[in-house]
Amino acid sequence: MIVTIDGVAASGKSSVSGGVARALGVPYVSSGLLYRAATLLGLEARLDLHDAPAVLAHLQGHPLRLEPLAGGNRIWQGDRELTGELHSTRVDAGVSVVAALPEVRAWVDAQLRALPAPFVAEGRDMGTAVFPHAGAKFYLTASPRIRAQRRAQERPEDVPAIEAALVRRDELDRVQSAPAPDAVVIDTGPLTLDGVIQTILAQLPA
Ligand code: ADP
Ligand code: CDP
Repeated sequence: MIVTIDGVAASGKSSVSGGVARALGVPYVSSGLLYRAATLLGLEARLDLHDAPAVLAHLQGHPLRLEPLAGGNRIWQGDRELTGELHSTRVDAGVSVVAALPEVRAWVDAQLRALPAPFVAEGRDMGTAVFPHAGAKFYLTASPRIRAQRRAQERPEDVPAIEAALVRRDELDRVQSAPAPDAVVIDTGPLTLDGVIQTILAQLPA
């Protein structure tokens, strides 16, 4: 079975997916890492991130490999591991431009659909565009302030700057971020990380 966990930026998708996946004994798949890695490669090659043919040609010339481990996803370009470089402020700032390119979305979707189930998939459109027949679907939300406070533990900027960047990214990602009609929406604001994980586990089909 495939479980999808979508949601807005810094709503807890990857932490929650990791916990749910570990409890189920399956891997989780972070679709956002593929968009982030495509963005890093584009920035390093000094490409115009709006230039779909150039970004796609660069990806095809530098194939990426996602390793969907339960303990944390890793991503490689040949022998080079990119994982540690993907959560920088400059990748945060460019990724929505790359993710808006239909050619890049098709390339990411093909990589995800080639992975062997079962797994937990997290992102924006896992329950809608990529795995519409998933066995269970969830959508995580929280207020921008709470999300910024959480992310401030992981970024050098202060909470207001992080909040402004999150709101901007939510807006740029709006097209692909609509919840699936059959997704269970969870406001993670009042919940602990473990509380969110237990809420999801309690709602999975037997
Ligand atoms: P996303 O994958 O949606 O960007 P993350 O899983 O990276 O979100 O979570 C962002 C930060 O918020 C992490 O530091 C994580 O530990 C923390 N976090 C996630 N969910 C909760 C929660 N319910 N309560 C408190 N902190 C949380
Ligand atoms: O964890 P956070 O929400 O900050 O980011 P992420 O899940 O790693 O996603 C990074 C970016 O990739 C998002 O801002 C979207 O632009 C894009 N993305 C997407 O368009 N579709 C997905 N399924 C996953 C990510």
